[in-house]
Formats: sequence, C-alpha cells, structure tokens
Amino acid sequence: MLGNKAVKATFFVSLLALASLLPLQANAACNFVSTKDGSPLAIKPVDTDTPEAKQFLETCVNPYTKVYAADPEKAKAGKKKFGYYSCTQCHGPNGDGQVAVAITDARWQYAKHTTDKGMFETIAGGSNGGMFAWHQQVSGPEYVPTDDILKIIAFLRSQYKGGGDKPWLN
Ligand code: HEC
Repeated sequence: MLGNKAVKATFFVSLLALASLLPLQANAACNFVSTKDGSPLAIKPVDTDTPEAKQFLETCVNPYTKVYAADPEKAKAGKKKFGYYSCTQCHGPNGDGQVAVAITDARWQYAKHTTDKGMFETIAGGSNGGMFAWHQQVSGPEYVPTDDILKIIAFLRSQYKGGGDKPWLN
C-alpha cells in the first residue's frame, strides 16, 4: 500500500498536471460571436464532425481555404454544397450576386468577413439584414453542419475577384 506521503505527492502532481492543461483548453476553442448582436454563438464539436471541422472549431482556421485556392478541382466540392443548400437562389451560381449581395467582391457586408471566422459567424448564425442562420446547431438537424459551411467558404474564397489583399490565405 502507498504511504500517506506518497499519496499526497501523487495527488499534488496530478493537480499540477490538471492546472497546466486548463489554460491550454481555454485558449484552444474558437469563440464565435453572433453577427446579429455580438453575443456568444455556441457552435460545439459533435461526434459526426470531420477532422477539418474539429480543427476549425479549435483554431478558427478553415483548412479547406488554402487547398481550394491552390486546386480548382477540389473547390468544386464546395461549389456543390453551395448549390445543394440553395445559397445559389439568392447569391447566384458562383456567389456573384443575384437577389442578394455578391460574396466574391471586396464589398463586405461586415468588415469581419475578410476572415473565415467572421464569414462563418454570419452563415452559421445569420444576420439582421436578411441572412438566415444556416448552422444545424442553430436552426435544426436538417440544416448545415460545420464541415459543409467550411467547404462553402473555401469555395467562395476561391472565386474572389475583388483584388487587394487576401487575408484569409495568411
Ligand atoms: C433568401 C436569400 C438568401 C439565401 C438563400 C442565402 N443568403 Fe446569404 N445573404 C442574403 C442577404 C440578404 C445577405 C446580406 C445580409 C446583411 O447585409 O446582413 C446575405 C449575406 C451573405 C454573406 C455575406 C456577404 C458579404 O459580402 O459580406 C455570406 C457569406 C452569405 N450570405 C452566404 C450564404 C450561404 C453560404 C448561403 C447558403 C447556405 C446563403 N448565403 C443563402 C440572402 C440569402
């Protein structure tokens, strides 16, 4: 049996190990805010999430963006999702605008749309200016999972025609 001292020491070491983990965990999550009112937008990882979706929820970096920018063949997967969820009905087949605003020019509805995190917040949680909240954790299981929103964003970035910097590629 372990002596009292050894038990105490083990307990202390585990406490230290826990304490060193906590700040890491707190920093690891990407804290989303609603485009409607700036309140927290709680999008959590779920079992069915792809590794790419989980990575984004931790880092705010969309792993598809650079991949699609480099390879138009791969970007087609995002274009498919953009059509599948009928984003095309308002934004046109390539996001160039139809009933609603273009997403592929430099006129952003909200300044934060120059980051994938900001664009994700508007697509996932909606806006006060006519954008529906598309994420399934906000509007219901028949709507869009994290991974599909990321593919759509990466596709829209690959279609960008606005010139200037492309901060989403940094
Ligand atoms: C019923 C019409 C409609 C549909 C369908 C729709 N949108 Fe929108 N979308 C809008 C409107 C209106 C705005 C402008 C919102 C604002 O100014 O607050 C907008 C804005 C956006 C923006 C910001 C554009 C910018 O220039 O900053 C993105 C990104 C976007 N939509 C993506 C999507 C995606 C992805 C889908 C499909 C999942 C989708 N939209 C479906 C109407 C629509």
